[in-house]
Amino acid sequence: MLTSCTIEKPAAPSAHVPAELYAGLAAEAACISPKFLYDALGSKLFEAICELPEYYPTRTEGAIFERHGAEIAQACGAGTTLIDLGAGNCAKAAALFPLLRPSQYVAVDISTDFVSEALARLRQRFPHIAMSALGQDFSSGLRLPDSVRAERRLFFYPGSSLGNFTPAEARAFLRRLRGQCGLDGALLIGIDLAKEKALLDAAYDDELGVTAAFNLNVLRHVNRLLGADFDVRRWRHAGFYNEALGRVEMHLEAREAQRVRWPGGGRSFAAGERIHTENSYKYRQADAIALLEQSGFEATRVWLDPRRWFAVIHARAIAPLGA
Ligand code: AVJ
Repeated sequence: MLTSCTIEKPAAPSAHVPAELYAGLAAEAACISPKFLYDALGSKLFEAICELPEYYPTRTEGAIFERHGAEIAQACGAGTTLIDLGAGNCAKAAALFPLLRPSQYVAVDISTDFVSEALARLRQRFPHIAMSALGQDFSSGLRLPDSVRAERRLFFYPGSSLGNFTPAEARAFLRRLRGQCGLDGALLIGIDLAKEKALLDAAYDDELGVTAAFNLNVLRHVNRLLGADFDVRRWRHAGFYNEALGRVEMHLEAREAQRVRWPGGGRSFAAGERIHTENSYKYRQADAIALLEQSGFEATRVWLDPRRWFAVIHARAIAPLGA
């Protein structure tokens, strides 16, 4: 018997709606920041992407960690304060715990629910590692509480997420990390390398359409956040390598002319007009090392897979110029 029911309130546009979302949608060349790809379903779709035969980065990076784990741990040293940027389900860091043996683990992610669940399980398996979760969008700066030890910080930034930044933004981001390294901090980072266009096109526009679903799902997230009325069926996914700019781009393309509304606003899209949803920069190894150097880090070791598709780099913080 139905005695009561809860009706989900439509997300009212409020001060909680990020201003950057409105700004991006209103811009002549519309864009939505890739961080909005990761609502609950989006995070699951990304996990599914990682299982696709075409999407090599996660698997390739995992193979590097597996094959060179002992050396990587040696380069990092035991007893570090491991700060996991974009921890997600914490699986990548957890796989390294037995070798890396950090004394403290800080899992930072924009979506706290995901991380807190994972940490609860990890605490039981590794009771001697002090663990904490931090719900933060760290893309514009990381705020670490005092409980995070200042010594021996090892920032862990796997998965080539750095690729979401333009090179200039990446430098600014890395410089801020460098600023939080103290004298003995370091960085363990995974970077996807530039490669043949056909491989990259397939990795970001897979046969099953999982990446398409991942990309289109951002419109549903925006509908919830803004109270907008994007009709997903009227959009198509575009994902391809822009060789000239050295990056993969994802866009959503209007299948037909349409008007989209949200409380207090709206806009028209012409047929074929696009919303830019993601950049994923691919670096050459030397350029990645140069980028780190320009940001106050010195690459001490680089590990590659046999096909040289992906690089895992250990870099130590170097004294800022003039210090
Ligand atoms: C999580 C940003 C590393 O750029 O490859 C996967 C996201 N986008 N397929 C990437 C993504 C489309 C991914 N990163």
